[in-house]
Amino acid sequence: MFDIAIGSDHAGYDLKQEIIAELKAQNCRVLDVGTDSAAVSCDYPDFAAGVCEHVLKTGGLGILVCGTGIGMSMAANKYEGIRAALCTSEFQGRMTRRHNNANVLCLGARVTGRDLALAIVREFLEAEFEGGRHLTRIQKFARP
Ligand code: RB5
Repeated sequence: MFDIAIGSDHAGYDLKQEIIAELKAQNCRVLDVGTDSAAVSCDYPDFAAGVCEHVLKTGGLGILVCGTGIGMSMAANKYEGIRAALCTSEFQGRMTRRHNNANVLCLGARVTGRDLALAIVREFLEAEFEGGRHLTRIQKFARP
């Protein structure tokens, strides 16, 4: 159904596994770029890189999870062509696809609980970009 790349650091590992299980239960194809453990401290930009490179290569969607979601969103948005959105509500998950054409969803595992996170993922994956005036606006995103 979907082709989704997902990554986390140690703080996001448990939530990442929950999201992967849910996506697989829905027959989504998932690429897990790591990390592989909640117990071993690691650097979130390394996993943002894996997801962003896959999204840029395939034109698909990605999900990144760290403790707050903030570091992952900062790291991901350094990539030209990546529009990463840190979401804490279902509304944001839906609207960032519809209006911003976000291609990477960021979640904070220490901020957002499992059930809400899964609901945000669902909204993000099911919503579609509306184009039109919203395309004009995202085309104005500048990289000085
Ligand atoms: C790890 O302790 C934490 O700093 C990281 O997961 C993330 O929240 C950074 O933005």
